Amino acid sequence: MQLTQAHRDALNDVLQWRRDVRHFSTDPIPEDVLTRLRATMDLAPSVGNARPWRVLHVTTPALREKIISNFEKSNAEAAEIYDDDTRASYAGLKLAGLRDAPVHLAVFTENQPAEGRGLGRQTMPEMLCYSSVTAIYTLWLAARAENLGLGWVSILDPVAVAQTLSVPDHWQLTGYLCLGKAAFDTDTPLLHDKKWQENTPTQWQEV
Ligand SMILES: Cc1cc2nc3c(=O)[nH]c(=O)nc-3n(C[C@H](O)[C@H](O)[C@H](O)COP(=O)(O)O)c2cc1C
Repeated sequence: MQLTQAHRDALNDVLQWRRDVRHFSTDPIPEDVLTRLRATMDLAPSVGNARPWRVLHVTTPALREKIISNFEKSNAEAAEIYDDDTRASYAGLKLAGLRDAPVHLAVFTENQPAEGRGLGRQTMPEMLCYSSVTAIYTLWLAARAENLGLGWVSILDPVAVAQTLSVPDHWQLTGYLCLGKAAFDTDTPLLHDKKWQENTPTQWQEV
C-alpha cells in the first residue's frame, strides 16, 4: 500500500495533538470503540513477535479505589525529595486522572512468554517490557484518533498494584493507563504549560 500526503498529514495531526491526559470527562467509552482500540494493540511490534503485554481492564470499584490510594501514597512520598518551593510546584501538578477516567487499564509484561521462543531477548531481556511500551503507544495514538485521551500513571508502587490485581509472579507492571474523553484539547504538554519542564528537542547526532 502506498501512503499519500493525506496520510502523512493525518498522522502528523494525531502525533501533534496526542497528549498525556489527566483531566477527563466521566462519560463512558462506548463498547464498540473500546473493542476497536483493543484490536489496535495487536498491530504493535514486539521482540520475537512475543506480544508479551497482558491487559487488565479494572472495573471493580474496590480495586480502582485501591489503585487510587496507591497513587496518593506514592505521590506524597515522591514529593518528599524536593525542597519546599519545588514541592509546592509539584503539589500544584495534576499527575493522574484516576477518579474521573471511565476506563482503567493495567498493562503488565509477561516476563516468561512461550511466544517468540526467546528470539531477540537473550542479551537484553528488557526488550519484553519495551515491546509492551510499543503496544501502549499504539493504543495511545489510536485513542487520540478516536478523540479520546490516555494518561500514563507511573507514580505507583508496582508490587502493590500486582498484589491488588492478583496477577502471576512473572507479570511486571509496565503501565497503568487512564482512558476517556479529555476535558480539553491542547497541543502543549501540561508539564511544559505549567513550567515544570519545557519541551526540549530530540538529541540526534552523527558519529
Ligand atoms: C513512561 C511514562 C510514564 C509517565 N508517567 C506519568 C505519571 O505518572 N503522571 C503524569 O502526570 N504523567 C506521566 N507521563 C506523561 C508525561 O508527563 C508526558 O508524556 C510528558 O510530560 C509530555 O507530555 P505529552 O505526553 O502531553 O506530550 C508519563 C509518560 C510516560 C511516557
